[in-house]
Amino acid sequence: MDQSCQTIKAVPSWLWLAGVAGISIPFLWTEFRKRQATRSLGHKQHDFTKKPQQQTVAIEPLCSFDWTKQDPLRPRPFKPTYNITMGLQADTISNLIVIDKTYRQNIELRREIIATHGKTVHGLVPEGADSIRELYEFLMVDYLPVRYPTLFQLSPDKMVMHNLATGKSFPTRAVEDLDQSLRIIAETVEDDFFLLHETPEGHRSVAFVVCFASGFDPSEKLGQGLKDIHGPVPSYDKIGPSMERFFSRLEVGRVVKRGNWAIQTHPNMFAGEGKHPTESDAKYDDMAIDIEQTYYRTELQALSRLPKTRAILFSFKTYLTPMTDIKAEGSGEQLADAIEGLKNGNAPGMWVYKGGSRWARKVCDYLRS
Ligand code: HEM
Repeated sequence: MDQSCQTIKAVPSWLWLAGVAGISIPFLWTEFRKRQATRSLGHKQHDFTKKPQQQTVAIEPLCSFDWTKQDPLRPRPFKPTYNITMGLQADTISNLIVIDKTYRQNIELRREIIATHGKTVHGLVPEGADSIRELYEFLMVDYLPVRYPTLFQLSPDKMVMHNLATGKSFPTRAVEDLDQSLRIIAETVEDDFFLLHETPEGHRSVAFVVCFASGFDPSEKLGQGLKDIHGPVPSYDKIGPSMERFFSRLEVGRVVKRGNWAIQTHPNMFAGEGKHPTESDAKYDDMAIDIEQTYYRTELQALSRLPKTRAILFSFKTYLTPMTDIKAEGSGEQLADAIEGLKNGNAPGMWVYKGGSRWARKVCDYLRS
């Protein structure tokens, strides 16, 4: 722990290189990209093309971090009208992985899910091998022990990383069996992820760990391009081309985040077997639900790029909040408006896709009661 805290800011060599490389990019190119990015994002408040200062790409150690005392973030990205957008916000590499008091229970749950669902929740295609090795090493050496030195500690020779919350130790280099390496990542961080490579046809998923899947089978997405991955998503065509462009231009050292939200009528983090409803599922409309078993589900999603293999890392942390807590915190009215607003924006199919026709009336009545 003291190592990284003594140096105040520990910066992996590739991040410094990224900063130096950034400075050398000509001004005109920056200006061109600025205009392109602003256009594809559809909003003006964030300029992702702006070069970060070296401080902003450094990983800030949380020297006295106590995960048992850290309250979970409360992402509430819902709006009165649902419009499908990229909705990206600039963030820092320090915040790539967020840890809180749910850490150990979620890690235990992830182990159980992997034991039960195996290859449904993790996998790779051969082209993904080097990117898995790179991600593994980045997490075990460059990121986790630097950001969370009270939780993850390296052995003096840096060959082993000790997880002080679970008592487990793992090698800092990916093991030969890359499925096993994915499982180690899955029980080290709560975030799920896809790794993507750029191909002439667009970005394609080459590896994944998705223990907390909801409404889709993650293994079916392996090897697919973004367009096919989002096949069931209504109005995806409105953002697909901008996403591909944005991914192509995302620079090493840059992190952007977005949130999504959903409602579910069970308490399960893994719900990979139930598919999203379609119009033909109308027979399930306005189902009986138990509000005590109804949850607000939200993912905090991050996009970044690995420097060596240049894979895109799409990682996301899932938060599940009882509907009773949403009401108690005073967000009931806004969430009810947002649920009804699923029908009213530029992607009205979201109402059925997210299951609104099944539970919305009863959930909204409860939230407004
Ligand atoms: C800017 C980046 C992205 C945007 C704006 C986006 C947008 C969306 C939206 C709107 C949905 C519908 C559900 C929801 O509200 O979240 C969705 C679903 C999904 N997204 Fe993305 N996405 C992005 C990146 C990715 C990436 C990189 C992957 C993985 C390679 C991915 C995988 C999925 C999957 C698996 C689903 C569920 C699809 C299904 O129902 O079968 N997304 N995405």
